[in-house]
Amino acid sequence: MIKIAPSILSADFSKLGEEINTVVTAGADLVHIDVMDGQFVPNITLGSPVVAALRKTTKAPFDVHLMVENPENQIDAFAKAGADIITFHVEAAKHMHRIVQRIKEHNIKAAIALNPGTSLAFIEEVLPDLDMVLLMTVNPGFGGQKFIPSVLDKIERLRDIIDTNEFNIDIEVDGGINLITAKQVIEAGANILVAGSAIYNADDMKQMISDLKQK
Ligand code: DX5
Ligand code: ZN
Repeated sequence: MIKIAPSILSADFSKLGEEINTVVTAGADLVHIDVMDGQFVPNITLGSPVVAALRKTTKAPFDVHLMVENPENQIDAFAKAGADIITFHVEAAKHMHRIVQRIKEHNIKAAIALNPGTSLAFIEEVLPDLDMVLLMTVNPGFGGQKFIPSVLDKIERLRDIIDTNEFNIDIEVDGGINLITAKQVIEAGANILVAGSAIYNADDMKQMISDLKQK
């Protein structure tokens, strides 16, 4: 089953609670929250106090995407703030196995993100411990960027590894997802699609969310 995770990076930050409820009502399966620290990526977005405040506005699962240096320092705060999934970047992690365990100690899902230029080989040893892998389909930092088609082959290879080993791991993609690229990533094997601008700029969000799920 395909799940859609609208990214609130494209929402109106002056009314985030309402903006989340709008996408949840429109059929979002997860709420994707982009955390940027101005170090790992140039932008700064929001921190765990904002996530804790938003937690009161909905029961929908929070999919927290940490684009931060030293993610180990942030795990406890975001877990306590109400994250259901925490994703950190392999490129920012010195001790990825330890960080995965740290996330799991909170009884929430653990995921690792890979930039478009990062090989799957980097996560091979921890793959059996993961609940999800996030394959970035743009270079992280901004919403509204163009999809990088070479990632399709990486999605296919990861799908093959997961199916061959009968792992229970979701493949999430993030960046430049629209009606055309959604079809391509689903065919390649992704099952959770993040979309920011495509959903928040849509005239009919409900229709867009259901259209993005179609093969
Ligand atoms: C990019 C973020 C994405 C972004 C996606 O660094 O991780 O979640 O908001 O936005 P769109 O769907 O507009 O590419
Ligand atoms: Zn993201």
